[in-house]
Amino acid sequence: MDSRDPALQSFVDAALAAYAEVVPGPEARASLDRITAALGTPAPRRERPGRRLPVCEHLDAALAVAVPRPALRHLIESFRAVEPDLEWVRRASFDASASANFTEGHANAMILGPAGLENRADVWFGVSLLAPRVRYTDHSHAPEETYLVLSEGEFRQGDGAWFAPGIGGSFYNTPFVTHAMRSGAHPLFAFWALWPER
Ligand SMILES: [Fe+2]
Repeated sequence: MDSRDPALQSFVDAALAAYAEVVPGPEARASLDRITAALGTPAPRRERPGRRLPVCEHLDAALAVAVPRPALRHLIESFRAVEPDLEWVRRASFDASASANFTEGHANAMILGPAGLENRADVWFGVSLLAPRVRYTDHSHAPEETYLVLSEGEFRQGDGAWFAPGIGGSFYNTPFVTHAMRSGAHPLFAFWALWPER
């Protein structure tokens, strides 16, 4: 397979361009360089229909956010074009750190990665949506991860203080660091790009 659906290719281009503007340090730079190189080779598209969850009623509000840079507007527009084909899912495991409304109040979608719209193992690139006033469960994973945040909302690494990257902000999670996110009065909407250890 040597070409990608034009809408998905536009999304990939827009996402990588938006990330490139705000790379949060050399570890993230190296990770994103590897991800960018890997995504240069398309993988087969998953042949299941897209599926939304009830929390996706907050998606329009999340995507209507005023963004500070043209690359972010382009990213949102290209995301809109592929979103109907995404399969939104809930995280299967969570602990007492999650708010009581966590299950109904969040959804994740893998865009390029395992079981993603583009089904591949070498990259995990997707998006998370939280309804207002939801605290996502503490979690960790082997792959390093770089977030690109498109909304208000706060994040935490380890036992550190909660911080707000702001709309268009980015930060990097080292392998296995415990992390979490929480929304305030508005939905939280953020992309994540993970490079699995191999
Ligand atoms: Fe994560």
